[in-house]
Amino acid sequence: MALQITTARPTPELLDLPWRRPLEEWPEEVLAALPRGISRHVVRFVRLGRRVLAIKEINAEIADREYAMLRNLRRLHVPAVQPLGVVHGREAADGTPLDACLLTLHLEFSLPYRALFSQSLRPDTAVRLMDALALLLVRLHLEGFWWGDVSLSNTLFRRDAGAFAAYLVDAETGELHPSLSDGQRAHDLDLAQVNITGELMDLQAGGFLENGDPFEIAASIVERYHSLWEELTAPERFGVGDRWRVDERIRRLNDLGFDVDELSITTDVDGTHIQIQPKVVDAGHHSRRLLRLTGLDVGENQARRLLNDLDSFAAATDRQGDDEELVAHDWLTKVYEPVTRAVPRNLTTRLEPAEVFHEVLEHRWYMSERAGHDVPIEDAIQDYIRTVLPAKPEEESVVGVDTIEMPVIAKHD
Ligand SMILES: Nc1ncnc2c1ncn2[C@@H]1O[C@H](COP(=O)(O)OP(=O)(O)O)[C@@H](O)[C@H]1O
Ligand SMILES: [Mg+2]
Repeated sequence: MALQITTARPTPELLDLPWRRPLEEWPEEVLAALPRGISRHVVRFVRLGRRVLAIKEINAEIADREYAMLRNLRRLHVPAVQPLGVVHGREAADGTPLDACLLTLHLEFSLPYRALFSQSLRPDTAVRLMDALALLLVRLHLEGFWWGDVSLSNTLFRRDAGAFAAYLVDAETGELHPSLSDGQRAHDLDLAQVNITGELMDLQAGGFLENGDPFEIAASIVERYHSLWEELTAPERFGVGDRWRVDERIRRLNDLGFDVDELSITTDVDGTHIQIQPKVVDAGHHSRRLLRLTGLDVGENQARRLLNDLDSFAAATDRQGDDEELVAHDWLTKVYEPVTRAVPRNLTTRLEPAEVFHEVLEHRWYMSERAGHDVPIEDAIQDYIRTVLPAKPEEESVVGVDTIEMPVIAKHD
């Protein structure tokens, strides 16, 4: 039997590892001492050049399946550990066959929940951990991934600007479907609740969970999941004069870490109400779509903003059924260009046009929010040119900078 190493990218250093020995017996000098969670299989961290790998010794078919699944999740841009490869055909020195190995890149700065809890967590930190897990589960479900083994042990946490981000680490039981039924989602949530309650009771028995009740904490994940799911998928109705509310909804979703695809916007028969239903998409989607529709080549956040405006333009002019490119052309000539052209020549070096447009939209939103009704774009341009643009330093005229995240004003808790 020959050793067979399959990897996503060439990694010849892998040949130097002691594949002929069971993972449990690998010598200290190849191992990396990093915190590791509870597992069914033998898992070890190994140094490989400047990187650290996680190696899991596991049955060959399961290794292949999990490898393929992690690659799919990666393609879907879901936060999960990054697969590196699988190793088959292992054999001990005496010829005994050994299990296959699944290789993933160690997720830098990640912590298993036990490591987090052993640092005596404040109660609100525990809540934020659960929030992160609920968000991960929502993202997985939106992509049609049924996890089948949701648990704290199968999740890694990473500190993210004061909060936590959760990553999937164990995809062994997962199934990818075009989309999930309510029953499938409920099943995953049941599993989550049972597993997490058990894990927290375990921590409590070890003296690591001083405040809080395991049942309540686990139930709060499910609750949080439902409100996130609702926020992301529920349709909403607005009067046509309240387009700024559409913006507000998008901001809330962005604040939750979601990018919103073209909103599916429909108007009533009499055209008095707008209904929106957000769809969640992968990175780079907006700039590709905008480029295809208008030829404008801008950063992702700018593109998202511009497309949102294009979509609400289509809704306001009651043209959602029309050819997308025609509507886009109209929007370009009737909305976008007039705005970018309105900037006086002596100010055009301050900001690139797409950024000016973006800022004018922001400005209009603030004005509308203050006024409580839509402010015409012409008023917003004039006010912006008069009050905001002259104060911009010349240095900011860097082409290609992406827009920064705007603070969310209308926070709802
Ligand atoms: N790529 C990785 N980065 C960081 N930690 C990892 C990685 N892969 C595995 N681990 C650690 O190993 C533990 C067990 O991995 P897991 O895939 O859940 O194994 P099992 O299938 O045996 O349950 C995880 O809880 C995690 O702490
Ligand atoms: Mg596991």
